[in-house]
Amino acid sequence: GPPVDGSVRTVLLASPRSLCAGVERAIETVERVLADRGAPVYVRKQIVHNVHVVADLRRRGAVFVEELDEVPDGETVVFSAHGVSPAVRAQAGRKGLRVVDATCPLVTKVHVEARRFAARGDTVVLIGHAGHEEVEGTLGEAPRQSVLVQTPAEAAALEVDDPARVSYLTQTTLAVDETSEVIEALRDRFPALSGPGSDDICYATTNRQHAVAGIAAAADLVLVVGSVNSSNSVRLVELARRQGTPAYLIDDAGGIEPGWLRGARVIGLSAGASAPHHLVEEVIAFLRGLGPLRVREHRHTTETVRFAPPKEVRTP
Ligand code: F3S
Repeated sequence: GPPVDGSVRTVLLASPRSLCAGVERAIETVERVLADRGAPVYVRKQIVHNVHVVADLRRRGAVFVEELDEVPDGETVVFSAHGVSPAVRAQAGRKGLRVVDATCPLVTKVHVEARRFAARGDTVVLIGHAGHEEVEGTLGEAPRQSVLVQTPAEAAALEVDDPARVSYLTQTTLAVDETSEVIEALRDRFPALSGPGSDDICYATTNRQHAVAGIAAAADLVLVVGSVNSSNSVRLVELARRQGTPAYLIDDAGGIEPGWLRGARVIGLSAGASAPHHLVEEVIAFLRGLGPLRVREHRHTTETVRFAPPKEVRTP
């Protein structure tokens, strides 16, 4: 219900929020292939980690598969924004698939770094979360030379063939603060450590984290729109909680538990990079339905990044 004293509730809207350039490009890629070639269009893995995006594209004729074995030979397949390992590309080749690659260019950049570090004989330490599709793809660039590290403790205990030849990479959607702790632990252990400049965390992940950090302390509650398998969305929830504010991940307005709102006069609101804007609008509309609402936007920065579509779907 409304705040107990009947006063106006405030939404602090974090900005930037919602779709990043890589996710927009990936969704548009599937839409273009559907328009050009008609359904069905096969997509390996969820094109982006959002239940609403996947359900919408499925309704329009996209067929999501876990692995390429499920795609009939000779068909068209779209690779998701999270990237694929060379082994997957090779399998697509063997099956005669027409590949449309929607890998985010900022993920591709990490793959290029992995190949460069591996080619000069380094052990490549990837900082990331086990099992995430992006991590599987990046590790696949140099599987025998790569090792995944998730925490400062793991970094401190790491054994390698040649401690003088170690480089690191990161998943693009990690928490900025936690990742620098892991990098520091690696540098303590391997003083000759080299890396990609600062880290590989992308602009969209960084901006969404700074924006949430700017609202969390002033909020009684933070809601982040995003799906459970969306790494950057989960990081936003954790960041708000580290600042001492209760925070929850919701797929849409229907995920809001009435108990969370009790006594919450200021609600921080954001959305992960894979969550469409309309889902945030729907959360605001839902909250407005409960009583008087004032919406204040907290703008950390304005994003202007855009990526050209993959060449296979570019209109000449
Ligand atoms: Fe790319 Fe970052 Fe989005 S890696 S897909 S721009 S979250």
